[in-house]
Amino acid sequence: MTWSESKQEKVLAIVSKHEIRQTRLLQILREVQDEFHCVPKNALEIVAAELGLARTKVEGVVQFYSLLSLEQQGRFHILFSDSITDQFQGSRELMDYLSAKLGVKPGQTRSDGKVSLGFTSCTGLCDQGPAGLVNGHWLSRLNESRIDRIVDLVEREVPVSSWPLEFFHVEDNIQSPGLLLQSPIDQGEALKQLVREGFEEIFMEINRSGLRGRGGAGFETAWKWRFCAEGPEDYSGSSLVDKNERFVVCNADEGEPGTFKDRILLNSYAHQVFEGMTVCAGIVGAKQGFLYLRGEYLRLRPQLEAILANRRAKNFLGKSILGRNGFDFDIEIHMGAGAYVCGEESALIESLEGKRGVPRVRPPYPIDRGYLDQPTVVNNVETFAAVAAIAAYGGAWFATQGTDKSKGSKIISISGDCERPGIYEYDFGISIAEILMDCGAENTLAVQVGGPSGGIISGKEYHRKLAFEDLGTGGSFMIFNKKRDVLEIVRNFTHFFAHESCGFCTPCRVGTTLLKNEVDKICDGHATSLDLVGLSSLAKFIKTASHCGLGQSAANPVLGSLSHFPQAYKDRFKDVVFEPGFDLDESLETARRMSARDDPWAHLEQ
Ligand SMILES: Cc1cc2nc3c(=O)[nH]c(=O)nc-3n(C[C@H](O)[C@H](O)[C@H](O)COP(=O)(O)O)c2cc1C
Ligand code: SF4
Repeated sequence: MTWSESKQEKVLAIVSKHEIRQTRLLQILREVQDEFHCVPKNALEIVAAELGLARTKVEGVVQFYSLLSLEQQGRFHILFSDSITDQFQGSRELMDYLSAKLGVKPGQTRSDGKVSLGFTSCTGLCDQGPAGLVNGHWLSRLNESRIDRIVDLVEREVPVSSWPLEFFHVEDNIQSPGLLLQSPIDQGEALKQLVREGFEEIFMEINRSGLRGRGGAGFETAWKWRFCAEGPEDYSGSSLVDKNERFVVCNADEGEPGTFKDRILLNSYAHQVFEGMTVCAGIVGAKQGFLYLRGEYLRLRPQLEAILANRRAKNFLGKSILGRNGFDFDIEIHMGAGAYVCGEESALIESLEGKRGVPRVRPPYPIDRGYLDQPTVVNNVETFAAVAAIAAYGGAWFATQGTDKSKGSKIISISGDCERPGIYEYDFGISIAEILMDCGAENTLAVQVGGPSGGIISGKEYHRKLAFEDLGTGGSFMIFNKKRDVLEIVRNFTHFFAHESCGFCTPCRVGTTLLKNEVDKICDGHATSLDLVGLSSLAKFIKTASHCGLGQSAANPVLGSLSHFPQAYKDRFKDVVFEPGFDLDESLETARRMSARDDPWAHLEQ
């Protein structure tokens, strides 16, 4: 048997393991990538032919997701998180150190094919950074001595499965548990209550609790479920599924830099999350659920699969759950592959269907036309964990905490300049000043609430409250002390958005790159006050003209910092009216090389 035949068979085996389903395309490609350290051309053709898809469509999917690659990567593929908190902890310097030791640059594969290096967006380990991934598995608390050991393991080609366990060790790091984290439900408790009290009664409890979505936007959970259960008036849907099918999706994409609270819920409270999904399924009438797990959380997958198996064995999933006729529901885990935009619910649904994660035109919303065009509930991990607790303990238990408009508690992930980064849960209504004191933050210059897509606040606003009606957040809380440079933070965030823009609409695709270039120009000291006019109108244009939430929030770091820290910009401006956005002399380098000249006349005076 030739090498390529065996290769073909491997690809065919992966496709048939996924029952030759088009909706499994992304899962298939992930496995192909793991097998070959890239998605080879031959594999693309086989997958396309087997699934009945155009080759270009399959290639387009590979190109969309950053954890997939058409180019050959190393047998050890090491990525460092480029989140700003990792950067401030020295991740760039550590990458230089690793790169020098291994003799390969970030973005490249070494000529012997052994190792490749690169940067990736936040890996969800900001409390235990600098962090990274090796062949998709977390690497925490990187430092020079750990890197020396990694270099040795790579050079000796020790399989990642035999690397020291402490390299991958990730703690929950719960610093201050509150309403939810302190009172986990017993397995099955919420479902027993659901079957005992009835679906309508538990729905009323969720409604009474005032629960609003924990993913960021804060939509009322009970209303979302009600709309989904009712379905749209013109109910057509996809021919691939039953006309009355509904779906429940748990959004565990957690890609917002600085957010890692879902990591803890999935690691230690997964039963409760799955139970919340099952309660939802009972109420809206869904038979199938999906946990969309971000690609960077691969390490959690085996234990999550084990918990699902355990729940099936106990009839908390499967047919006639807890003996109730017609209450059938199961959950499938679907891995993401490194695309922040897939956290947006309609992009997530596209990705679940095996496509590029391009956000849909809305309306119709997923509650009307979601997965395979059927009514679909998409909720955050924390929302489902709260649902299970409310079903078990009642709506009043939850609603008595928090504020009028923001009931209950919020779990936040604190990272950056404080003594005790980690997980904190507070009743809504707590002030930013109290949170800063609690986690041991001193000399705080600014707090980024809600990640790069959220907002930056400065000292005069620390009296503000954590609440949907004041400062809402999906869970990211990054602290920066007075030694930090606000513009470096803005630069990191604008690079993040330019990298993560899906490219579907022009204002975001072009706008985020222009914004990035402008911020680079300012940070590099090439800007003048004239640039500010263009910068703020560009920022406003991206915000208003972009198609989805990513583009609409991509300019927030610029707009927020301009209004809170204008001096940081002024300090960087040159004293002239116009300065080119690039180095003219450097841009002539290619021409000089082509004409083999490097004399003084071939250079421009700057
Ligand atoms: C670019 C972008 C990324 C998002 N990422 C996430 C995410 O990682 N997790 C999440 O729950 N919601 C995320 N959302 C919000 C979802 O679109 C959706 O509102 C949420 O999953 C609904 O759940 P909830 O009602 O329980 O909050 C994101 C939105 C945008 C625009
Ligand atoms: S706003 Fe950006 S991420 Fe959203 S659809 Fe447009 S290009 Fe894609």
